[in-house]
Amino acid sequence: MLKSLSHVFLPVFGGTALVLAVAVSFANRNYGHSKIETLETRIGQVEAHAAVAQENAEAESKRAAELEIKVEEIQAAAAERVANGANLTASAPIRESSLGLGRSALKEEIAAWDVDVLPDGRGLPVGSGDVWTGEEVFVARCASCHGEFAEGADNWPVLAGGFDTLADEDPVKTVGSYWPHLSTAWDYISRSMPFGEAGTLTADETYAIVAYILYSNDLVDDDFELNNENFAEFKMYNMDGFVVDVRPETEYTEWRKEPCMENCKAEAAVTMRSVFLVETPAEGGSNSVMNNASPDELPTFSAEGPSFIPTAAPKPDEEAAAIPAAQETKVTDEVTELAAAGEKVFKKCKSCHQIGEGAKHSTGPALNGVIGANAGSVEGFKYSKAMQASAEAGLVWTDEEMAAFLAKPKEYMKGTRMSFAGLRKQDDIKALIIYLKTFGS
Ligand code: HEC
Ligand code: HEC
Repeated sequence: MLKSLSHVFLPVFGGTALVLAVAVSFANRNYGHSKIETLETRIGQVEAHAAVAQENAEAESKRAAELEIKVEEIQAAAAERVANGANLTASAPIRESSLGLGRSALKEEIAAWDVDVLPDGRGLPVGSGDVWTGEEVFVARCASCHGEFAEGADNWPVLAGGFDTLADEDPVKTVGSYWPHLSTAWDYISRSMPFGEAGTLTADETYAIVAYILYSNDLVDDDFELNNENFAEFKMYNMDGFVVDVRPETEYTEWRKEPCMENCKAEAAVTMRSVFLVETPAEGGSNSVMNNASPDELPTFSAEGPSFIPTAAPKPDEEAAAIPAAQETKVTDEVTELAAAGEKVFKKCKSCHQIGEGAKHSTGPALNGVIGANAGSVEGFKYSKAMQASAEAGLVWTDEEMAAFLAKPKEYMKGTRMSFAGLRKQDDIKALIIYLKTFGS
């Protein structure tokens, strides 16, 4: 376009100066045009910038407003906390008593102490828990000591089984077999378990655990849910096993007669000495030895100890070495001795197995005649799939198989339901097998 215009103007004005002037003016015009463009672009940019800045400013003021509200909220919460918390530490209203000591307990303080649960369900918090949740919590929080099935690990308390053993020489007192009220379990567990971490269970967890302990005791089915509403209805197995103590009425009155203070009896004679238990065995009971001192013998004291305590009976090994007996009698003696030792080892099995006349299935099958029998063959017991498979494969409980099983049940038979860690000592296993044989093989 510039070129065509210069062609039009040149013939009209002519002359170099003119040509120059025109050129300058064109150049100027040209400069002005690009400047406008530049300015326009700049304005556009500034406008865009301003818009962004405005947007930012708006966002920031909004955020500031939000933060302000938050600060107010935090301040209000803090003030409230101070107002409430201060009650616990700040001097409380002094009681109008003669001594002017102490203050009335706060509602919250009473609630924190008032945790007891009564047999009729009073004191229970609202909540619920089922057997399956209970199993999870129990395995995580309790099984390390009480065993996965509440059967008790090592020497920690057994919580399940032991039914109908209360009249035995070695009663197995568990939550299931012994405790008359379910509230005792709830209350005790909520206050004092897990051992060393008391107070860390929620109410729902406690309901679930108690449901699981009932299940471990075969007192409920696996779909059972325990809650604050059905709690009091639950009837424990041994609920009628306790009697009311009437001695205050029947006996104490006898003892509370006017005591004789003078000229009561011509002479007092010692007629019997107390008996002394010696070498109290770890398991208590049957091994105890009584002294046979007669009332006339006065005790003597020597380096061996007081005369009324007989020197400890020789250990079985020493005894066997000390008394060379005829081979025959020694063998039978040994068998009887081993069977007796086996009977003691069997205490570890008793929470789950019965043996002897009238033995019934409990957690595990009755064990009469088990040595030499086909595995998994006792009528009426529901074995695990693993035991059934072993039975189908023809497993027979020979001494060797039994020894291997009892040493490490879970390793010997993957998937067995017998939840028992195993016997560590070969001697125990040997003795136990001989004991089992005394009930047929
Ligand atoms: C670290 C080991 C340990 C753990 C974990 C543990 N307990 Fe105990 N439990 C004990 C001991 C020890 C006793 C006996 C306490 C006593 O007699 O004073 C006991 C006693 C009990 C008893 C009373 C038994 C009886 O017949 O007298 C119950 C019920 C019980 N525990 C439940 C539980 C529950 C439920 C858990 C899990 C939430 C749990 N325990 C976790 C060690 C433990
Ligand atoms: C915690 C409970 C528990 C304890 C403790 C326990 N058992 Fe068992 N036992 C079982 C269960 C459950 C079975 C069934 C296993 C299966 O079906 O897999 C079983 C199975 C057996 C069997 C196989 C019976 C058969 O008919 O084939 C023998 C034998 C046995 N137990 C012996 C013992 C002996 C001996 C002890 C003690 C050293 C012992 N158990 C301790 C629960 C237990």
